[in-house]
Amino acid sequence: MRRAVCPGSFDPVTNGHLDIVGRASRLFDEVIIGVLINQSKTGLFTIEERIEMLGEATASYENVRVASFHGLLVDFCRDQGAAVVIKGLRAVSDFDYELQMAQMNIGLSGVETLFMPTNPLYSFLSSSLVKDVVKWGGDASAYVPDFVGERLGTRLKQT
Ligand code: PNS
Repeated sequence: MRRAVCPGSFDPVTNGHLDIVGRASRLFDEVIIGVLINQSKTGLFTIEERIEMLGEATASYENVRVASFHGLLVDFCRDQGAAVVIKGLRAVSDFDYELQMAQMNIGLSGVETLFMPTNPLYSFLSSSLVKDVVKWGGDASAYVPDFVGERLGTRLKQT
């Protein structure tokens, strides 16, 4: 079975992430979304909340599942039986760091990274920007699923 991992923080999932996951799901037998547990960074949403939102947003994809990981991405890939990592590239500015990580990961364990050009509709999009837009009352409905936008609004009112 050809498996690929789509890793990230997903705090929260955006339509840009979903575009990459959906396209990856058409290329691989199974896609595992790997949510990084980063103990040194407090997110807006807990890991459980991020997983729940990703699960709901990808429910229509039969070959996509969501899991969390900490430590090295290559160890997660090994545990999941995945030989490939899929990363979306939004702009040239993403490439520098992504290339470093891809080369480190292939050096560490032979895991390949495939870069997928982001849909131009989402080339400027990030979870951080969406949080800022919603925080200050802007309309983020084009950038996250409706239920994520609602949860963002509620959470940001509490902070
Ligand atoms: O959504 P993000 O925060 O840009 O995702 C970054 C992520 C999770 C892909 C990256 O930080 C990662 O792979 N972390 C795992 C730690 C690791 O394997 N580090 C060495 C890779 S070079």
